[in-house]
Amino acid sequence: MKKVITYGTFDLFHNGHYNILKRAREYGDYLIVGVTGENYDIGRGKLSVHDTLAERIENVKKTGLADEIIVEEYLGQKIGDIIRYDIDTFVIGDDWKGKFDHLSRYCNMVYLERTKGISSTQIRNEIFKTYDIGVIADIVDDNQIVKEANTLNEFRVTSVYSDDEEIAADFKEKYGIDSASTDMEEFFAGVDIVFIRCETEKRAEFIRKAIAQKKHVICDPPFSFSQEEQKKLYQLAKDNNVILIDNVKMVYIHVFNQLLWMTQGGLIGDILSFQCSISRNDRDRKNIFYDLLALGLCPMVKIMGCEYNNVDIQISKDSDGIEFASLDFKYDSGRVIINVGNKVRVRNQLEIIGSTGTIKINGNWWRGSYFELDDPEADEVEIYNTNYHGNGFKYLLKTVATMLANGRIDTMGVFQDEALKIIEIVEKVREKEKN
Ligand code: CTP
Repeated sequence: MKKVITYGTFDLFHNGHYNILKRAREYGDYLIVGVTGENYDIGRGKLSVHDTLAERIENVKKTGLADEIIVEEYLGQKIGDIIRYDIDTFVIGDDWKGKFDHLSRYCNMVYLERTKGISSTQIRNEIFKTYDIGVIADIVDDNQIVKEANTLNEFRVTSVYSDDEEIAADFKEKYGIDSASTDMEEFFAGVDIVFIRCETEKRAEFIRKAIAQKKHVICDPPFSFSQEEQKKLYQLAKDNNVILIDNVKMVYIHVFNQLLWMTQGGLIGDILSFQCSISRNDRDRKNIFYDLLALGLCPMVKIMGCEYNNVDIQISKDSDGIEFASLDFKYDSGRVIINVGNKVRVRNQLEIIGSTGTIKINGNWWRGSYFELDDPEADEVEIYNTNYHGNGFKYLLKTVATMLANGRIDTMGVFQDEALKIIEIVEKVREKEKN
């Protein structure tokens, strides 16, 4: 019996899919179809897939062409599958031509011509609503927003606004955006979602204006230097039934949820100590220190909660402001140290010591894709990781797409009480800075 295998996502099952399965079958007596698993697609950044895995499997099954259906769960699985299922011929569309030649060591490799004029991407573009994103910027650096947004079906970055005409024009040019504007009314008229990327002092005003125009808002935290003002912004968003969400990508990446699960679920016992350090040397951006501080406090409020007993703040300043700060929190359960270096470089790391294990991330933990678990009972350090693609922004956007589809405006990434607690601490540090 000659066995044939082929793979695909088979999203929004179409004629091209049917044709390739039919032709693949003709290369043998038994056809195995590999359908990509959801985790695999998420890990490689293919967030555009619409149908669930169960639906995609069902659609392949309904053709009656597959003798067996398997799930493709990780990169490199194909080699193992060829050996395990004793495959004679591997068939794939010629959009992959040359990419799988290395498999010819294991079995026959056949590339078949794609059916012309149809693809899942095309169908998705035709049938799903696209939201236009406008960026409000005071620097010509998009932090990959445009590229990341454009990988999803649901979004497209269409315009940029800046108070400064030159920045707006340069931003448009650099990222190939349709329009640039210094006229707010004109800018708001063309967008559904506003992404605010500017210095902290200006954020609240832009947020207010965007919400008043019934636009959903994504903004770097903190939205304001005042808790009271931020509360009002949340209320305004609620009254206008729009989303107001922090641009904290970390909480939308699987590995962070694993870490949260592990620490909240008691898997490393009681948390005795939590320490994290963050630094970046980005002198050009005003108040970057407070952006770093807000980010540094985020895993603390998520993992340790918002109820600390007291905090001791040490800062060191130069003529431009804070260059380094160390915050020492006492919680009922343990101690937390947050170190933030602005011009002072600190080694980026996060360490959580629990009574039955220690978790550690070396390097840029806020965009890490792994953590280590040092379990004293085990001989080796366990590594937990989940791949993600790009800088993480598309995962945040995907959540926004789901919220829009489900008609909900309250975010479960950084909760409002957590964001407000972060600002309460920011206020304390600002107070210290002034004295
Ligand atoms: N395929 C084909 N003809 C098409 C579309 C797909 O022969 N018009 C083949 C692919 O080459 C692949 C299989 O069908 O061997 C599964 O492809 P998949 O990536 O799931 O479909 P696409 O329509 O290409 O999806 P997307 O637009 O998301 O890339």
